[in-house]
Amino acid sequence: MSRGSEYELVQLANGSYSLRSVEEDETFHPVIGPVAEAEALYVRQLKLVERLRTHTGEFVIWDVGLGAAANVLTALRCSRSVPGKLLVLSFDHTLEPLRFALKHAEPLRYFHHYERAVEDLLDSGIARFRNGPQEVEWRYLDGDFPTLVADPSSATWPKPDAIFFDAFSPAKNPEMWTQPLFASLHALLDPARPCALPTYSRSTLLRVSLLLAGFFVGAGHATGEKEETTIAANSLALIDEPLDRHWLAKARRSTSAEPLWEPVYTQARMSPSTWERLLAHPQFSGSL
Ligand SMILES: C[S@@+](CC[C@H](N)C(=O)[O-])C[C@H]1O[C@@H](n2cnc3c(N)ncnc32)[C@H](O)[C@@H]1O
Repeated sequence: MSRGSEYELVQLANGSYSLRSVEEDETFHPVIGPVAEAEALYVRQLKLVERLRTHTGEFVIWDVGLGAAANVLTALRCSRSVPGKLLVLSFDHTLEPLRFALKHAEPLRYFHHYERAVEDLLDSGIARFRNGPQEVEWRYLDGDFPTLVADPSSATWPKPDAIFFDAFSPAKNPEMWTQPLFASLHALLDPARPCALPTYSRSTLLRVSLLLAGFFVGAGHATGEKEETTIAANSLALIDEPLDRHWLAKARRSTSAEPLWEPVYTQARMSPSTWERLLAHPQFSGSL
């Protein structure tokens, strides 16, 4: 185990390495490791390589929770044979995990070829480079994500085709999992630009929050760490297994289904008004 000020390098049972935040007491990718999780949850689930191949114009990724950049660097490595333009906006309120991870690039193993890009991002908040035949621009947006999203300037951010949503768990990091945050995120999307947002949690309260925010929501791929995850999108076509009325019935019985309306972690059964709003969602109301 290697210690930094606020982060530690930890070796997982499968031999790979990941970071642990000492302050939050959370390991970034605790079971299968950063690269395997990024491949399963984001690259394969989003069909990123196929989408990049058929995309016209710039493909835009919002990377929420840059952390140690495993998700972005894995996406870059997996798509490095695909020509095109990629713009990545990475959000976080600290660059410390990335600085720490770069110092431990060798055991982490996913930095190779991208050290210079990461240094540029750390030094100036922007990196422009070629990833094989691909042109990449990678920008860092610093600050509390809900505050940035609520600022009117968020309307000028290039609209995303995909969102990697990778905050700490709702119990530790409730401000990143509120219904108002997901509603604001949905409002920032371009309805004419299909965009999907996978995330590792399959919790009912998250799924209800995403639905009430206006997303279509489906069961997401297993990652080797979780038997099921969640994928939300502004287009039903991007979801292979939409949640159905069977899920709805289970959600109604769940003791943890009411969204977090404020950044405080609580568990509660669904309120009558939440239930009414869910029933009226086009995914369940038959009004598609
Ligand atoms: C699980 S880690 C992300 C791991 C990262 N995606 C990777 O591939 O290495 C969660 C990240 O969310 C960031 N985060 C938590 N709360 C935040 C907030 N309110 N605003 C912005 N970033 C936040 C943390 O600083 C941390 O880097």
